[in-house]
Amino acid sequence: MDLRPAKPLLAPSLLSADFTRLGEALAMIERAGAGVAHVDVMDGRFVPNITIGMPVVQAMRGATKLPLDCHLMIVEPLRYAVEFVKAGADWVSVHQEADPHLHRTLHAIRDAGAKAGVVLNPSTPVETLTDLVGAFDFVLLMSVNPGFGGQSFIPRVLDKVRRLDAIRSERKAPFLIEVDGGVGMKNAKDLVAAGADVLVAGNAVFKAPDPAAAIAELQAEMEKGR
Ligand code: DX5
Ligand code: ZN
Repeated sequence: MDLRPAKPLLAPSLLSADFTRLGEALAMIERAGAGVAHVDVMDGRFVPNITIGMPVVQAMRGATKLPLDCHLMIVEPLRYAVEFVKAGADWVSVHQEADPHLHRTLHAIRDAGAKAGVVLNPSTPVETLTDLVGAFDFVLLMSVNPGFGGQSFIPRVLDKVRRLDAIRSERKAPFLIEVDGGVGMKNAKDLVAAGADVLVAGNAVFKAPDPAAAIAELQAEMEKGR
């Protein structure tokens, strides 16, 4: 039984886009064939940076048909997770490190009608998820310490992807594995080969001379890993 989707998905991170032109950025990634739009929500407490909130997600919702993948880097995520679904998020992920009641939060996200994900920082082992299998639709593995775009990929995360893929096979659980941080042409193929289904790319897309071409190149590279 193949527990993975037929095609790996690229999720450009709007954090690296020009914030005065988010609508154009969304239209560009949709035309270029991205699978998901990744939205980084930071609160200045869980991570040192502050980015965007529900009103911006709501505006983005009106500007694209792509699924909006809201990565909540916030403390007490249950306070806001459902608000992001109401604003138009299709996928909502919360950090394991920020929530002692993950099971409850994941249920609230699903009940509100979105896909529920757990995010793990680079220092959090994938084995922490074994008693939650079934309660999440995807896992987001951070391959940088969250807070900023444009950081270097932490190579050890490849091994975490493999270990999580093994848990998925062993438990026959069809969750997606997403990787976020420092993803680019150098590691996209290896990540997919290790078991990743969704790759987030900020700088590798938006700081490229031709972002639409970068999306196509990254996707071709990802296909080679399957
Ligand atoms: C970092 C964010 C990432 C970031 C990725 O905290 O979660 O989504 O935008 O940016 P790059 O691909 O440039 O590392
Ligand atoms: Zn992110």
